[in-house]
Amino acid sequence: MLNKNNARVIAHRAICLIALEKKSLSEAAFPTEANDLSFAKSLTFGSIRFYHHLNDLITPRIKKPLEKKNLDIHCLLILGAYQLIYTDISIHAAIKETVDIAEMIGKNWAKGFVNAILRGIDRDRDVILKSPHHSHPTWMVKKFKKDYPDSYQEIFIENNKQAPMSIRVHPSIERDDFKAQLQNENISSELSKIASQALVLDDAVNITSLLGFENGSCYVQDISAQLAAPLISPKKGERILDACCAPGGKTTHLAELCPDAEIIAIDNDKMRLLRVQENIDRLQNKNVKIMLGDATRQDWWDKKMFDKILIDAPCSGTGVIRRHPDIKLLRKPRDVSEVTKIQALILDNLWALLKPGGELVYATCSVLKDENENQINAFLQRSGDAKNEEISLSWGEGLIGKQQLPEHKYDGFYYAKLIKSL
Ligand SMILES: C[S@@+](CC[C@H](N)C(=O)[O-])C[C@H]1O[C@@H](n2cnc3c(N)ncnc32)[C@H](O)[C@@H]1O
Repeated sequence: MLNKNNARVIAHRAICLIALEKKSLSEAAFPTEANDLSFAKSLTFGSIRFYHHLNDLITPRIKKPLEKKNLDIHCLLILGAYQLIYTDISIHAAIKETVDIAEMIGKNWAKGFVNAILRGIDRDRDVILKSPHHSHPTWMVKKFKKDYPDSYQEIFIENNKQAPMSIRVHPSIERDDFKAQLQNENISSELSKIASQALVLDDAVNITSLLGFENGSCYVQDISAQLAAPLISPKKGERILDACCAPGGKTTHLAELCPDAEIIAIDNDKMRLLRVQENIDRLQNKNVKIMLGDATRQDWWDKKMFDKILIDAPCSGTGVIRRHPDIKLLRKPRDVSEVTKIQALILDNLWALLKPGGELVYATCSVLKDENENQINAFLQRSGDAKNEEISLSWGEGLIGKQQLPEHKYDGFYYAKLIKSL
């Protein structure tokens, strides 16, 4: 009999939380007492990553739609079909152990139903594998096609892969030395040519096991995200606003690049600010002041203008789907239009706090043009005193800001740099 710490049982619970209760993967709290935590996670991430494909395989095979109270059985089918189509788990184990969960959750009646549908999918496996599926919601497919008529297929392919793990090595440590020390611990990595502090690990590892992690030797951060702080390039004596700072990846980077710059870091999420504090403590940054503040308002501001501002804006997250595949289930078109309006409000509000001659870097982890190039173009037109500064990087494309699509080493990201007229 299965117990609650069985990997498939944990994965099923997580899939139900995400698909039915609309919780995020990070809220799916995997129990540490799980029998095989990494297997539970890989089943969950995989099932969510390919949910739309699996759903299209399952739905036509269900003659009478399941009642709302039995949608957990639909999630069980997703878990079973994922194992059959996307893993090399034995067919017997995939079907039997998935069917057993029906009994465990008190739905004995569904055992035959789940078994029959999974056996049918297994019979059609060869045909299914010959017709690849993008596994994205229809609205997202439309948006990607509209924005990238020539390359949207590649975005689907990249979004369905697992992202590599990258770290940022503290500037006080030689990156080559750190790489060699990691290698001594059998952790292989590659130096990034784009981000000067970055190492891309060959395989993901447990973060806390990384050398000197507790003392701030490194920070887990994608290469694309590591470009923000160098674009701001903090200098001694400058007053820099990091708006939308949590959990503090870019705040700590700014602080470590120039301990003599004053960094004001705000976020409107009190809980997420706790993470910023933890990261600042771990990295021992002394030049950061954290504040709870809404970037669309000025009630948190002390009326001293900023030399530079980083807006790492709230966004659709469509550039980081490979890290957060739940975005494909949770995000709705209305969320994109709402967040686009908030980005515009933040830009307008914070621009007024920037000194003449000051610099503002706008960033998102989105690939949608309305949040990026179109957003900045519209701002340039309405502001009157903002000038686009070309970003010279062999990363990303574009004249008004640079857009990088998700690809092996890089998360999908957008950066624009604006200068305020004197
Ligand atoms: C992309 S994340 C920031 C990531 C962070 N800069 C880092 O590098 O670790 C966006 C952040 O914006 C915050 N946010 C959303 N709306 C905001 C607002 N109106 N004012 C301030 N922060 C906001 C969210 O709480 C979230 O922490």
